[in-house]
Amino acid sequence: MRILISVLLAAGLWAQGQRTAFEPGAVWPDTDGKPIQAHGGGILLHQGVYYWYGEDKTLGNFNRTGVAVYSSKDLLNWKREGLALPKDGVPELFRESGVCERPKVLYNKRTKKFVMWMHLDDQPYAVASAGVAVSDRAVGPFHFEGYSRPVKFDFGYPEKDRTNQKELGGTYRDMNLFLDDDGRAYAFYSSEDNWTMYVVRLNAEFTGPELPVVQGKTWQRIMVKDQREGPAPFKYKGKYYLFSSACTGWKPNRASYAVAENILGPWTVKGDPSVGPEAETTFRSQSTYVLPAPGKRKDAFIFMADRWNPEKLQDSRYVWLPFVVQPGDKIELKWADRWDWSVFSK
Ligand code: DGJ
Repeated sequence: MRILISVLLAAGLWAQGQRTAFEPGAVWPDTDGKPIQAHGGGILLHQGVYYWYGEDKTLGNFNRTGVAVYSSKDLLNWKREGLALPKDGVPELFRESGVCERPKVLYNKRTKKFVMWMHLDDQPYAVASAGVAVSDRAVGPFHFEGYSRPVKFDFGYPEKDRTNQKELGGTYRDMNLFLDDDGRAYAFYSSEDNWTMYVVRLNAEFTGPELPVVQGKTWQRIMVKDQREGPAPFKYKGKYYLFSSACTGWKPNRASYAVAENILGPWTVKGDPSVGPEAETTFRSQSTYVLPAPGKRKDAFIFMADRWNPEKLQDSRYVWLPFVVQPGDKIELKWADRWDWSVFSK
């Protein structure tokens, strides 16, 4: 009898802990009950398991902890797997008062390695480079390979350039990775001191740009002088889509999305996908990733964003919203206090 009672109790607790719906903007605890720390994050689906990588801001702003990784089979219940790249895993310049932001991970089938890219910066935000780290396991530990700026291009450098782009190449800040169906990977990042987005094809190992870099062939400037951040690309029916935010620090702003037949452009800006109250601030959040929703519908996606809390960055929240791509490349992003997979069966 006693055994039966404890089994029932355990089952009850377990059932209680299981989340069955997304609650955008609410505290999102992991399976240990602690708030998830994976800001500016991205998802990797590998062998039926989702991995969520992001900035661990437990100690507030800057790289004081490192890149955390969580695993899940249902995208709702996340188990903390620890730090995939602890702060000490990157050069000193990028720890404590430096930053290690917007980490994203791809799996390279050829090399069987997990490759992480991130935006690394020093305190004055002048190094603005891409960091690359590699691991044999999805959960890490990732081994830091180095940092650089993938593309050098004369866009008409400012005369006094504290980021030294003439010598070092265009700055590398808000970023994302995208793996295409043909196995080729791309980095999207805010370059030219956040004025222009770059899309750059990666080499076969995914550890650097494809060489030689040739504009129009291996990389391109897109949304030129538009000042976009938070790039979140995805593909649907052979077309490429890119969500992005404006550039206003931690303050939320209006989102926009663009569409292209070719990943290197031309990209057509379609405008703000958000509708309804607080659309003008993307529901007080900033894009970080777009994930194809699990299930049969190929037009169903999840928009992932950060609701930053600049006064207390560790209490920044996650805004995940469902959307579908409608005919004519139309996307409508609507707020929901709570949603589950049934939204896609309507
Ligand atoms: C906006 C970026 O999107 C964030 O990742 C972060 O770098 C903040 N700026 C810092 O102000």
